[in-house]
Amino acid sequence: MQEELLVKEVDQGRCPSETRLELAQVMLPEDANPAGNVHGGTIMKIVDNAAFVVAVRHSRKNCVTLAVDSFKFLYPVYVGELLIVKAAINYAGRTSMEIGVRVEAEHLISGTRRHTASAYLTFVALGEDGRPVPIPPVIPESPDEKRRYEEAVERRKLRLQAQ
Ligand SMILES: CC(C)(COP(=O)(O)OP(=O)(O)OC[C@H]1O[C@@H](n2cnc3c(N)ncnc32)[C@H](O)[C@@H]1OP(=O)(O)O)[C@@H](O)C(=O)NCCC(=O)NCCS
Repeated sequence: MQEELLVKEVDQGRCPSETRLELAQVMLPEDANPAGNVHGGTIMKIVDNAAFVVAVRHSRKNCVTLAVDSFKFLYPVYVGELLIVKAAINYAGRTSMEIGVRVEAEHLISGTRRHTASAYLTFVALGEDGRPVPIPPVIPESPDEKRRYEEAVERRKLRLQAQ
């Protein structure tokens, strides 16, 4: 009975607050580039992983990264800082999803935080045959979620026009 209810809720859609993810990880020497700052690729991998979790939580399917919009590092991140990654779904099409990710770095001694990067990632949900499968819609609830949804619709149009 409970399982039936869960499936019905999923088909009707999920709101972003149900699937969002926030993770934090102290940056260690093994995360550094030869110059001693955190390697950009380390951060990109954590971002892709966080967005993947949100995409799978929303669709409850296996998902693959289809595209990552421009990824700009605004400030360096240093070894010893806490990397905080916040990921949430902005929009779902028939089989694809836009996940927005914000990266912050916290200096643990001073407690100061700075916004170091943001990215939008498109994931596609796949069925057992490896082909795209339909997913539930996103139901934005808060004013921020509604704004992100509308902005994601516009970005999706631009992406599809550009290919
Ligand atoms: C993901 C993949 C299965 C999609 O295959 P496809 O034949 O392009 O599928 P479709 O044409 O049905 O498109 C699937 C969805 O992607 C969307 N899409 C296609 N191109 C896009 C683009 N450039 N930007 C954003 N979305 C795009 C489509 O609109 C569709 O979304 P919708 O159903 O919500 O409208 C295929 O491209 C793939 O396997 N890519 C490799 C993914 C991967 O391995 N990633 C890991 C890194 S190696």
